[in-house]
Amino acid sequence: MRGAERSAGARGEKCPPAAASTAAAAMALLHSRRLLAAPRLAAAASRASSWWSHVEMGPPDPILGVTEAYKRDTNSKKMNLGVGAYRDDNGKPYVLNCVRKAEAMIASKKMDKEYLPIGGLADFTRASAELALGENSEAFKSGRYVTVQGISGTGSLRIGANFLQRFFKASRDVYLPKPSWGNHTPIFRDAGMQLQAYRYYDPKTCSLDFSGAMDDISKIPEKSIILLHACAHNPTGVDPRQEQWKELAALVKKRNLLVYFDMAYQGFASGDINRDAWAVRHFIEQGINIVLSQSFAKNMGLYGERAGAFTVICSDADEAKRVESQLKILIRPMYSNPPVNGARIASLILNTPDLRKEWLTEVKGMADRIISMRTQLVSNLKKEGSSRNWQHITDQIGMFCFTGLKPEQVERLIKEFSVYMTKDGRISVAGVTSGNVGYLAHAIHQVTK
Ligand SMILES: Cc1ncc(COP(=O)(O)O)c(C=O)c1O
Repeated sequence: MRGAERSAGARGEKCPPAAASTAAAAMALLHSRRLLAAPRLAAAASRASSWWSHVEMGPPDPILGVTEAYKRDTNSKKMNLGVGAYRDDNGKPYVLNCVRKAEAMIASKKMDKEYLPIGGLADFTRASAELALGENSEAFKSGRYVTVQGISGTGSLRIGANFLQRFFKASRDVYLPKPSWGNHTPIFRDAGMQLQAYRYYDPKTCSLDFSGAMDDISKIPEKSIILLHACAHNPTGVDPRQEQWKELAALVKKRNLLVYFDMAYQGFASGDINRDAWAVRHFIEQGINIVLSQSFAKNMGLYGERAGAFTVICSDADEAKRVESQLKILIRPMYSNPPVNGARIASLILNTPDLRKEWLTEVKGMADRIISMRTQLVSNLKKEGSSRNWQHITDQIGMFCFTGLKPEQVERLIKEFSVYMTKDGRISVAGVTSGNVGYLAHAIHQVTK
């Protein structure tokens, strides 16, 4: 029924005679069909006439699939090493003290729930940029940058991908490290970009394939886009050393590539926010005008609050203003304006000296616990009698470890030991505790000896 007809009926107005007789005939037909047709046939007919009958069942998300299987498992020793969220040494989700304090401050101020501006909370975007670029950064101080608030790291990446699609005229090609975070491909693809790859990880050594990366990057056509993980590469945990970053910066500058840094783990990798931002800052100092996505999911434990930011480094403040105007035009029809609560929390933490100090201690505490779990896992593997070289576990950094376990070994770990992880052998070290690291080492040794 069309809107006008529906409202005419609703107002109790009479239908025109022709329409009334057609409607009566249709009702009679419907009635007779209802009486004659078996319910099963009726259901099939309605399915066949659906707008969506051609929609096929999509594959489940690989990481959520791991969690589902874990939940069904009744083994009391079960471990979920699939999910990328921090857990404390009791295996429990952890809300930072500085976050609790910021929340209390917000609650006591009885703040309103008005919309944020399209580009987000100004105190938050400024502090995010400062956190990434450093307070002494020339780009930051001169104002030749624009930062907009995004819906955590993912949403910020998507703003960036859409911005490139609309304004980066030189190329559609985005080069990702092989492998990269699983969501990078659909984020850029859905924004209309094309995905390419460069070598990054060497499965033989479980470490960086630096010469492979340099070789591939040197062949990337000029004015293409390259994505780099700023620190704590996901899924491999393998980061270039500072000397290697320097060579990478020189190469991308020579090739005239647009660098897109994804920084989802600042502070969470080494425990030091400045060290983890070193590559980003170095590239900018070398005159490379990067674009950058940030997330506060991991380093502040604000996962569900969806606080993040997207930054474009421009050649001058005027260009930054123009880019900002276009980012707003892009964001407005996507979600109008970003959520307020997470940005208020992050902004209070970054801009209140006591809270910031406490945060720096807490983020270091999380990073240190993960680093210590890596060491304990290796020493427990040795205790188990494993003669394999597990050094990559301690060489890698951040939440994830690419163990080098083969799919069939992962399958045994799940089936025989209830130790859950993604098929590629990636484990979230944040899911390991001093209580279960011995069991994990035992299980890994059993499937690798
Ligand atoms: C490399 C990388 N980028 C971005 C994100 C985005 O995370 P979020 O959208 O939760 O901030 C993640 C999270 O796992 C990640 O690992």
